Amino acid sequence: MKSLATTSFLCALLLFGVLLPFSSNAQLDPSFYNNTCPNVSSIVRDVIRNVSKTDTRMLASLVRLHFHECFVQGCDASVLLNTTDTIVTEQDAFPNINSLRGLDVVNKIKTAVESVCPNTVSCADILALAAELSSTLSQGPDWKVPLGRRGSLTANQTLANQNLPAPFNSLDQLKAAFAKQGLNTTDLVALSGAHTFGKAHCSLFVSQLYNFCNTNNLHPIHLTTTNQFLSFRSVFRLPLTNLLTISNA
Ligand code: HEM
Repeated sequence: MKSLATTSFLCALLLFGVLLPFSSNAQLDPSFYNNTCPNVSSIVRDVIRNVSKTDTRMLASLVRLHFHECFVQGCDASVLLNTTDTIVTEQDAFPNINSLRGLDVVNKIKTAVESVCPNTVSCADILALAAELSSTLSQGPDWKVPLGRRGSLTANQTLANQNLPAPFNSLDQLKAAFAKQGLNTTDLVALSGAHTFGKAHCSLFVSQLYNFCNTNNLHPIHLTTTNQFLSFRSVFRLPLTNLLTISNA
């Protein structure tokens, strides 16, 4: 995992860590667990650091997990809820199924936190902390995570399908999806910088690379690297980022 040096990614993480939570709940505070679970941050960091020794991609996956939970009902950990008689899990929504990662790591973190501070730290706060700590462990930016979120008792798969942006969305659709969360176009551009790291399935964007604007041409940013691009096919390194692709085979 490379250093996350881009300004856009820095802004992206700050926006999730600070802007979104405060927009929905003004009393959140980084010192929320100072008396009840003062070591929560280091407990979360230790688990993530251990996992990332064998799975460096997990750092990106935890950032994405925080994004996917916050766009549905706010940052309330509803994405963690499994299907029951009354709940239809968000994990099976189209943007999440076969794609969302890190749920097992969140379980590990929760277990570690519960052993030291039982019934104290919400899963929503764990997800927010995990995203920030994943950034710092990737040599990216750090920020003070506002804490004190409550976990949701319900999930909303329909809303997940509606609210989470898709790779084939137009710019107007992306802007609308972010506007629904109180985020503007600058936020959209900045947050998209999170794709500086992590992996993606080839099938989700290969059509845009090979058939730019229905011209049957490669996207302009790839024209200069056509040879590398074609030779690597479905497992290659994109020119402007370190986003790696996952073959769908
Ligand atoms: C602007 C609209 C966005 C779209 C359409 C989008 C779409 C996608 C898609 C299709 C993938 C690949 C999923 C897969 O193949 O399994 C992906 C990966 C990723 N996205 Fe986004 N994304 C958006 C915004 C964001 C935001 C706001 C963040 C975080 C701030 C983010 C963070 C990530 C990360 C870190 C990965 C890699 C995850 C991993 O390796 O497990 N994305 N995104």
